Amino acid sequence: MLVLLVAASLAVPRSVDARVEALMRRMTLDEKVGQLIQYNPSQHDLDKLIAAGRVGSVYNLHSAEQATELQRIAVERSRLHIPLLIGQDVIHGFRTIFPIPIGIASSWDQSAAELEARVAGREAHAIGIRWTFAPMVDIARDPRWGRVAEGAGEDPFLGSAMAAAYVRGFQESSILACAKHFAAYGAAEGGRDYNTADMSEERLREVYLPPFKAAIDAGARTIMSAFDSLNGVPMTANHHLLTTILRNEWHFHGFVVSDFDAVDQLRNHGIAATPQQAALKAIRAGVDMDMVDGDYETLARAVREGLLPVSTVDAAVRHILREKFELGLFDHPDAAESETGLDRADARRVADESIVLLKNEGAILPLSKKIGTLAVIGPLAGSKRDMLGSWFAHGNPDDAVTLLEGIRSTVSAQTNVLYAEGCGILDGSDQDIAKAIETAKQANVVVLALGEAGGMTGEASSRAFLDLPGRQEQLLESIVATGKPVILVVMSGRPLTISWAADRVPAIVWPWFPGIEGGNAIAGVLFGDVNPSGKLPISIPRSAGQIPVYYAHLPTGRPANPNNKYTSKYIDSPSEPLYPFGFGLSYTRFDYSDLRIQKTGNRFEVSAVVRNAGSRAGVEVVQLYVHQRVARVSRPVKELKGFERIALGAGESRRVVFTIAPKDLRYWLGGKWVVDPGTFDVWIGPSSAEGLEGTLKYSN
Ligand code: BGC
Repeated sequence: MLVLLVAASLAVPRSVDARVEALMRRMTLDEKVGQLIQYNPSQHDLDKLIAAGRVGSVYNLHSAEQATELQRIAVERSRLHIPLLIGQDVIHGFRTIFPIPIGIASSWDQSAAELEARVAGREAHAIGIRWTFAPMVDIARDPRWGRVAEGAGEDPFLGSAMAAAYVRGFQESSILACAKHFAAYGAAEGGRDYNTADMSEERLREVYLPPFKAAIDAGARTIMSAFDSLNGVPMTANHHLLTTILRNEWHFHGFVVSDFDAVDQLRNHGIAATPQQAALKAIRAGVDMDMVDGDYETLARAVREGLLPVSTVDAAVRHILREKFELGLFDHPDAAESETGLDRADARRVADESIVLLKNEGAILPLSKKIGTLAVIGPLAGSKRDMLGSWFAHGNPDDAVTLLEGIRSTVSAQTNVLYAEGCGILDGSDQDIAKAIETAKQANVVVLALGEAGGMTGEASSRAFLDLPGRQEQLLESIVATGKPVILVVMSGRPLTISWAADRVPAIVWPWFPGIEGGNAIAGVLFGDVNPSGKLPISIPRSAGQIPVYYAHLPTGRPANPNNKYTSKYIDSPSEPLYPFGFGLSYTRFDYSDLRIQKTGNRFEVSAVVRNAGSRAGVEVVQLYVHQRVARVSRPVKELKGFERIALGAGESRRVVFTIAPKDLRYWLGGKWVVDPGTFDVWIGPSSAEGLEGTLKYSN
């Protein structure tokens, strides 16, 4: 039967637009509205609805068989044989689970993000999925927000680079990408998920929108509107963002899907009293597809009653059908191919690059593989599930290599590896802590794996406190009190406040949630098979009270001055984060020298020599920052405008060259991008807090 339908589809006109129009001419109003509706598999009478042409998309199916079955109903039994678009949250892997996105962002490696998306896309495609609700490109400057785990951190430049890479990777695997959550979802007040965002158009344009624009420029075919309200207007009904900016200004041609149940939630936002009012507000604003809540079922009646012009429905249908045609769904609707095997080598490569070394006093790391007796302690040392973090699609915790397993297979046969859990992630007993202390006392070195549970980050996982949960602080203090050298490994989906540890342990390794190959990757770093190269994509605060703390803040009229009380600072804490954006150590040392700035036309070439001054090969992420001294409005004290990952052998050096174009110096003012002539400070360095400094003068 599918073969016959393919043959039939060959008879229609060939251009996508012509095929869309030809199909739309045959559609009833109810069938058109059906294309705008997405259901989840638990929807009552889903089969009948699909057969009646009332469903455009389904999501989060359990298996290839289910995908095949539902697609068969759509293609064989519905009147117009329009295939379903099957979607799923494929966030950092499908079967092969990679590090969480904030971990991938720590690599500052677009090819790593692209690789993850390509592999995940291929695996998802194999069971019939043609659309992922990823990447999440929300800028997040508040680690209390649990969804920090799902994005690329605090910076729009890095966030844009990662966004584009994910889009390319997914779409190379013939999976539609969906840049979400449009927009400013990461600016939730208090870091409380789903909460209000309120900000100037300037901040929106300069910080929160660029990754969306980058995703679209890279070809992202779908956008998900966010749950939050922005400046009082819920994003699901935000015409300014969804139509004025997205369609009219950026010329986005794909389609917009609401977030889960978000159309109906317009009633909770207090801007609609009934499902129909909610649906009308959403579609008029520019939401093409309604995820799950069914409010769009009311639209056919609204058209019949004259409340909505059919042209508004038509426009949304057109956006969706065009994507289905472009994707080849009409020609190849067959859902499932075959399951694929795990891609451990790629998961390992990305995990290696995602690990950030934050402290290494006295070069205690890397450890010798013949260390005598090593104690591995902590609730994150032996947990498979927690290696995967949140949103792990069809991933299987049994596939994960734990830190303990990774260490055991890395050290020499003579090394005695002892293990004690010490406490649970959230609980624990005095006896377990006492046992861990005894274990530590027998060892030469302790590797202490602490952090959050994989499910403590992601959606609806906001925290008010960012310290190590449960009894882990107590475990940490007890182990440090033994006097043994402690290597702290922190697994989490967000920055945690570890100031006490940072003052007392000699080494800190931060692998986030590193995925199925995490244990091997961390062990690789601990024992020197891998030279760490990750850099923080988000600042790590000293305390929750410092939040928000991000590097690209505006200057104040009273910059912090330790000798003057009446300046912008705390009386009980430094203002700077514990570890700044862009920071991460290596086992080798990189020296920066000879900053040069050359003007050609209205562009500047800014370069510096980076030398591997240590005795082993390494990778450095070289970063370029700028700051305008005097402009019409205050400009951030530093903004990332370039970065490059370079591999250097021991003693090797390279001149790293960045180009600064006028667009890198612009800002949003009075409804447009402007560049003010003037003096700009420029830095090339290893993090947002260090670097060679120079100036350039821009005149237009
Ligand atoms: C989340 C989205 C996700 C959707 C579908 C929502 O609750 O905010 O990120 O894609 O559910 O699972």
